[in-house]
Amino acid sequence: MQKVTKAVFPVAGMGTRFLPATKASPKEMLPVVDKPLIQYAVEEAVAAGITELIFITGRNKRSIEDHFDKAYELETELENRNKKKLLETVQEILPANVSCIYIRQAEALGLGHAVLCAKPVVGNEPFAVILADDLIDGEPGAMEQMVRVFNETHSSVLGVETVAREETGSYGIVEVAADGHGRQQVSSIVEKPHPDVAPSNLAVVGRYILTPRIFDKLLNTVPGAGGEIQLTDGIAALLKDEPVLAYPFAGKRYDCGSKLGYLKATVEYGLKHHEVGSEFAAFLSGLPRD
Ligand code: G1P
Repeated sequence: MQKVTKAVFPVAGMGTRFLPATKASPKEMLPVVDKPLIQYAVEEAVAAGITELIFITGRNKRSIEDHFDKAYELETELENRNKKKLLETVQEILPANVSCIYIRQAEALGLGHAVLCAKPVVGNEPFAVILADDLIDGEPGAMEQMVRVFNETHSSVLGVETVAREETGSYGIVEVAADGHGRQQVSSIVEKPHPDVAPSNLAVVGRYILTPRIFDKLLNTVPGAGGEIQLTDGIAALLKDEPVLAYPFAGKRYDCGSKLGYLKATVEYGLKHHEVGSEFAAFLSGLPRD
């Protein structure tokens, strides 16, 4: 049985919702307290047993490569100053058995196209896709929960969450039916439907485990919503050939692709932070309420 050892991180997006912060640096490098979003995503993948990280990058993404690379000057400086704890923090960003591969997506043709760019590296194996701007606080992590489902079923698994009906236009929306084994099988999926026509309010958030057959489907996927090659449309084709499961993971998701979601994550992660949590809580409770 094939294991999920590879994860694809599409990071070529423009991050326009965070301009001007994202003018010269990628949105995946925005920090929540003291870690960039992409590091939370990578840690979730590593906790799920993933050892090969495949980043689909674009312009302005150098800092992501640098973040997961060895930083000789910084490490020497921290060593000279005897800052052991900080040195560890920098050195432990990636475990030694984990490797990174970067593939450049020359044109931003859509999420489906970004995933297709990973085909030469993923080959004929199941793999994960993680969108770093969906930050999920879960224990165990959402991807680890999904890998368990994959190991039991060998089917593609989509991380899903119920959203308000008026928000369906921001997500891939699935319609599900019970599969007879206590799981939910996807019977249809559609990208960003208007609330009036959405088949449900069960949204795919940025976590996927996909079988390699998705690549054949993406090769034949024409531009869809927003004129982009959509992963959702590839999955719609895939589920005609093999079962695709919807998995409502346990955990709290923050939409860090939006300012409000990002602020919520910052406050809640700040409150839980081991260094500043209690002082931050005192600060917040002292704020005037009106
Ligand atoms: C993408 C996908 C969408 C999914 C969403 C989750 O949309 O296309 O199906 O529901 O991520 O965050 P985006 O947010 O990139 O517009």
